[in-house]
Amino acid sequence: MNREQALELVKAQITDKRYQHTLGVAESALALARKYGADPHKAELAAIFHDYAKFRPKEEMKQIIIDQEMPSDLLSFHSELWHAPVGAYLVQKETGVEDPEVLDAIKYHTSGRPGMGLLEKIIYLADYIEPGRNFPGVDEVRELAEKDLDAALLKAMKNTISFLLSKSSAVYPETFFAYNDMISR
Ligand SMILES: [Fe+2]
Ligand SMILES: [Fe+2]
Repeated sequence: MNREQALELVKAQITDKRYQHTLGVAESALALARKYGADPHKAELAAIFHDYAKFRPKEEMKQIIIDQEMPSDLLSFHSELWHAPVGAYLVQKETGVEDPEVLDAIKYHTSGRPGMGLLEKIIYLADYIEPGRNFPGVDEVRELAEKDLDAALLKAMKNTISFLLSKSSAVYPETFFAYNDMISR
C-alpha cells in the first residue's frame, strides 16, 4: 500500500483535526526513520494508521477487546488507551496491512511496552513531538530526538507519567513497565 492509498483510507475514519495530527506524525516518523535507520515506508505507514480507531464507538472497541482476547485489564483503565490495540486489529482486518512491525507500532503507540522495537519507538515519539504538538516540555524532547532516540523516548515517557500523576489519573501498568525497561538500559 502506498502513502496516498493509506491517507485516503484513514481520512474517512478520523476528524480533520486528527488528520492534520496524523500528517504531522507521518512527517516526524519519516524524519526519525531516516535518522535512526528504520524503514521509511513502514514508519510512514504506521504513522498514517496509528490513530485509525480513535473515533470508533467505545462499545465497539470494548467488544473487540473482549472478542479478540486482548488484555482484559485494558477495560478497567481509561478508554483513551483502547484505540491503539483496537486500531492495530482493525487496520489489519479492514485495510489488509499485515506487516507485524507496522501493526505493533500502532498497537503500542499509547502505552508503550518493555522491549520496544525501533519502529515502535519511532511512532511513540513521533506522536509526541509532531509539529502540531504544543505543550510544556515538548521542545526539550524534540531536541533530544535530534541526537538520541532512547533519551528522547525516555523523556517523553517520564513527562507522560508525570502528567498523569499530576492529574491524579491512573497509569496503565504497561506504561510503567516500559519506563522501567528504558531507565534500566
Ligand atoms: Fe493515538
Ligand atoms: Fe496520535
